[in-house]
Amino acid sequence: MRIVHLPKARSATGPLVLVDRQHPLQTSAPIDLIAVDSYHPDILLDRQAARALAACIQEVGGNREIVPVSGWRSQAEQQRIWDDTLAADGASFTEKYVALPGCSEHQTGLAIDLGRTAGKIDFIRPAFPYDGICGAFRKAAAAYGFIERYQRGKEPLTGIAPEPWHFRYVGTPHAMLMEANGLCLEEYAGFLQQGPCSCPLPGGRLAQVFYVPCEEDETEIQLPDGCCQISGDNAGGFIVTAWGYLE
Ligand code: DAL
Ligand code: ZN
Repeated sequence: MRIVHLPKARSATGPLVLVDRQHPLQTSAPIDLIAVDSYHPDILLDRQAARALAACIQEVGGNREIVPVSGWRSQAEQQRIWDDTLAADGASFTEKYVALPGCSEHQTGLAIDLGRTAGKIDFIRPAFPYDGICGAFRKAAAAYGFIERYQRGKEPLTGIAPEPWHFRYVGTPHAMLMEANGLCLEEYAGFLQQGPCSCPLPGGRLAQVFYVPCEEDETEIQLPDGCCQISGDNAGGFIVTAWGYLE
């Protein structure tokens, strides 16, 4: 067992941060961005997310049919997209499909919009159907750490209309736990607050996940032995993941 002490600001960083209208991005910590692939040098993503995305697309044989459309966005780019969409399509459409600048998870480098290869791909609402190769990607996504972030039925929680093309990297086992329990990211920390969670993983491994509320000054966290990850949830807490092996 190890003990760490974390400052409050740390709860705004990590792969599990919730970013939405109620939870604006609160950090300007540098992001380790890389190009999603060599064909799209201008589409950047967090390094781990980019690697997981490439592996998932490769796994389903989607290299030719699945195209990245939009990855990391700066505050200025999100503002430009907001302004342009507002001018072209009006406020109601914009609020459904474009996050308020400062409140877009594209600004974290952990979100990617995907499209199916076509002559013309809509930048705001790319087609990414539920069948064929896109469906295969969707099925495989959780095992690679991605969730379909804005699902039908969750609009009152996410504040965003269904976006079948927008995937968010949260890592494993979190994507698997969210999928298995039908949770969107807005619900995940609350779910973990009910008690720790275990998730069996391939290869006889076991991940254990628990929630620690953030203290005003410094939060003390007791880490189990072995490999651990701590992520802030950007909503007043930390999510701790410990990887071990099934007994
Ligand atoms: N389309 C999503 C909501 C964004 O703009 O971040
Ligand atoms: Zn998106």
